[in-house]
Amino acid sequence: MRLAPAPELMARFKAIVGDKYAITDPDVLAPHLIEGRGLYHGHTAMMLKPANTAEVAAILKLANETRTAIVPQGGNTGLVGGQIPFDGEIILSLSRLDKIREIDSESNTMTLEAGVVLQKAQEAAHAAGRLFPLSLGSEGSCTIGGNLSSNAGGTGALAYGIARELMVGVEVVLADGRVMNLLRKLKKDNTGYDLRHIFVGAEGTLGIITTAVVKLFPQPRAIETAFIGLPSPDAAVKLLNLAQSRIGGTVTGFELMIRGILEFALKHGHNVRDPLAGPHPWYVLMEVSSQQAEGLRDNVEEFLAEAIEQGIVGDATLAANMDQAKAFWHMRHTLTEVQKPEGGSIKHDISVPVAAVPQFIAEASEAVVKLIPGSRPVPFGHVGDGNMHFNVSQPVGADKAEFLARWKDVNAVVDKIVLKLNGSFSAEHGIGKLKRDTLAKVKDPVALALMRDLKKSFDPNGILNPGKVL
Ligand code: FAD
Ligand code: MLT
Ligand code: ZN
Repeated sequence: MRLAPAPELMARFKAIVGDKYAITDPDVLAPHLIEGRGLYHGHTAMMLKPANTAEVAAILKLANETRTAIVPQGGNTGLVGGQIPFDGEIILSLSRLDKIREIDSESNTMTLEAGVVLQKAQEAAHAAGRLFPLSLGSEGSCTIGGNLSSNAGGTGALAYGIARELMVGVEVVLADGRVMNLLRKLKKDNTGYDLRHIFVGAEGTLGIITTAVVKLFPQPRAIETAFIGLPSPDAAVKLLNLAQSRIGGTVTGFELMIRGILEFALKHGHNVRDPLAGPHPWYVLMEVSSQQAEGLRDNVEEFLAEAIEQGIVGDATLAANMDQAKAFWHMRHTLTEVQKPEGGSIKHDISVPVAAVPQFIAEASEAVVKLIPGSRPVPFGHVGDGNMHFNVSQPVGADKAEFLARWKDVNAVVDKIVLKLNGSFSAEHGIGKLKRDTLAKVKDPVALALMRDLKKSFDPNGILNPGKVL
């Protein structure tokens, strides 16, 4: 148990940001100490809200000199507990670093501070006639710094890449307070080791991201969004391959969901309707984009008719307009929330080669139901990336706490299948606290040793997000 910093030390931290931005009021701190699923509760004596990189640097310099542990926090939407202070660490909130500094439409880049909320970044790009394609269910509150630090994936990764691929340049404050400025807009820069990427996915354990340059894309001139009913995950994989080879546009979204999770959304979601007339065992939400203004709709309609004829698709509907397309995406983005009213939910965020997704879903579902009879697997997710959220809801009427107590047993049977299929037990949410023990068990031992060496070299006093990842 870490002791709260002594009053004199608290006063030195306060002096860096000013009294107003050194939060000690328990009521204001409270929402920063729990994560969205209520899985974790942390504690702290103080949260600091610096205004700029210089203040972040001063905080880290003092923290390093006094061996005071820090937990960086963006929008607090992380799903592995990485942003929670479990042992009285000071929270370093990036929320005041919220400026979009520049949109360079010709270089297709946007320079923005770490605390910019993802949705604000998307809207700014849109207003400049560009697309920033990172898209997550949490986009109304998560931040660019959190997205990069957790190397977020989301629904646009299939066509545009994960957060790592969207980052061009970065500014990072190191544990000792030095500022590393790699804020360039360059695609090509072969000047030695590429240090930018060490901080992406590091979950705040190696440095604090304060500013980034991210990639923008031209806005598509035509977008078609289809909601498709299918017999099986296997049909979904076939459909994806067919769509990628046959449609004269790019498949920019391809999300699979089982009927069970659509039912949760229909029951508990706000303004959610089933877009298809009858039930289907599985669904795909598919988005196709093109730079040609004409012809895409006919092309997608023909493609779907052919897929129905071949028996790959049971039924499908194309969004009639942007509002309907938004309604389809709204339903997709509620899938995290609508599991909550169904009681305990044990989560997995796995990836396997795309072709192995059907085998994974079949074997994991069987194994989990055998382990806990009556439990309800509700797999959904980014099937085009081989990344499924294999979430398991508790049996109807079961005791929530008793069910959640089986979290590790359920993970163990699922992870075993993932490893057999050469997959990853953490495809997009990261390690944080939740998956630290699993990482230590399954990561290649040489890689793990190098990770520990990196941590020691970047943060020798262990002040940055201690106890997370490693
Ligand atoms: P936080 O939760 O505040 O922090 C996340 C981690 O990054 C923590 O370890 C924290 O210490 C660290 N951190 C935060 N800011 C910085 C910084 N500036 N410098 C260094 N470290 C920092 N994730 C996906 O990948 N794909 C999805 O599709 C997806 N969907 C989601 C849907 C919902 C409804 C929710 C609640 C979460 C979802 N997530 C998804 C989880 C995802 O990790 C986050 O939503 C997002 O990337 C985290 O951003 P944040 O600003 O909230 O970070
Ligand atoms: C999503 O893709 O909606 C999230 O990453 C899934 C989750 O909440 O598990
Ligand atoms: Zn996801």
